[in-house]
Amino acid sequence: MYTCLITGGAGFIGSTLVNYLFNKYPEYRIIVLDLLTYAGNQANIPEEIKNSDRFEFWYGDINNAEILSELISRSDFVIHLAAESHVARSIFQNRVFFQTDVMGTQAVANAVLKYKNRVRRFIHISTSEVYGSGIVFPMTEDHPLNPCSPYASAKAGADRLVYSYIQTYDIPAVIMRPFNQYGPQQHLEKAIPRFITSVVMGEKPLIHGYGGATRDWVYVKDTCRAIDIVMHEEDHKVNGKTINLGTGVETSILNVARTILKCMDKPLGFLDHIEDRPGQVERHCSSTDKAWELLGWNATTTLEEGIKKTVDWYCSNSYWWEPLVWMRKVKITLPNGRKIDH
Ligand SMILES: NC(=O)c1ccc[n+]([C@@H]2O[C@H](COP(=O)([O-])OP(=O)(O)OC[C@H]3O[C@@H](n4cnc5c(N)ncnc54)[C@H](O)[C@@H]3O)[C@@H](O)[C@H]2O)c1
Repeated sequence: MYTCLITGGAGFIGSTLVNYLFNKYPEYRIIVLDLLTYAGNQANIPEEIKNSDRFEFWYGDINNAEILSELISRSDFVIHLAAESHVARSIFQNRVFFQTDVMGTQAVANAVLKYKNRVRRFIHISTSEVYGSGIVFPMTEDHPLNPCSPYASAKAGADRLVYSYIQTYDIPAVIMRPFNQYGPQQHLEKAIPRFITSVVMGEKPLIHGYGGATRDWVYVKDTCRAIDIVMHEEDHKVNGKTINLGTGVETSILNVARTILKCMDKPLGFLDHIEDRPGQVERHCSSTDKAWELLGWNATTTLEEGIKKTVDWYCSNSYWWEPLVWMRKVKITLPNGRKIDH
């Protein structure tokens, strides 16, 4: 019986992972540590899990070394997802991104170091945003790190911090860099849920710039499957490694919006545009080689299938997202000084 600590387990990816592991491994214990910021929601975790004696929810901050010691001292796996995670929000409220994403990660890494003989694996969830705009395609794990937003630079700091702990202290860590995630229970500030819920409310989806920026879109359950494989892989195969999680397919924001419109039977021109956000990443497309060679993992959900599942979920769960409608837009200041709701 293993114990898995999931930081940020009340957020989008974290809660999907809690569900995935709880159901797949009936003998595992799951502990969630989450500060329940605006992005965390206990309702993301089903009652059946919350009421189980295999589950513990700890309301707390990853910067709290005492709580981390208490929880990591009895964990086999530490999967670290807690973070401030929204690029646009990091433009107008940047400090907390460094406090949580960098210093919080240091607290987690220090606690893992303290119990490194107890912890089987520490999985640090980084992000493709650390690369900035792609220069060479497909983007391998050796692509230069040129983070373009405060969020991306905080995550790059955390990513390299964990790398340095591997080099210096030999902690049993793996750094995973998922490309753009989407699926049910994602906060409305993120593009795909924002587009879908706009259409449900009869509004045109708002595209940043002309919509030509591309991303590599990964359905969240594919990511959970990859994390599961990394948890259970042999030490020599994954420890100390950095692994991209992407599909190898790049799709522009405009085409994602059109895929949603098509899925929801709306005309493809049912769109509005607003200025691009500063620090926009122009192109992302992951290499899939390392994930395949090390883990035998590839993403199996196509964008059309994933969008269909996501649209179905938002259409049937308006109670979940209606309270978040006011948070879809974030105030930012453009380089010319103009303030806009983005
Ligand atoms: N969503 C994506 O497209 C994406 C892509 C690649 C990587 N990631 C990374 O995956 C992780 C999870 O992303 P997500 O989209 O689920 O984010 P999210 O914003 O939905 O969830 C983050 C969770 O962390 C919690 N949290 C925030 N600060 C905390 C603190 N100080 N202590 C404890 N808990 C705290 C929040 O309450 C929330 O539950 C993040 O590290 C993010 O950088 C996300």
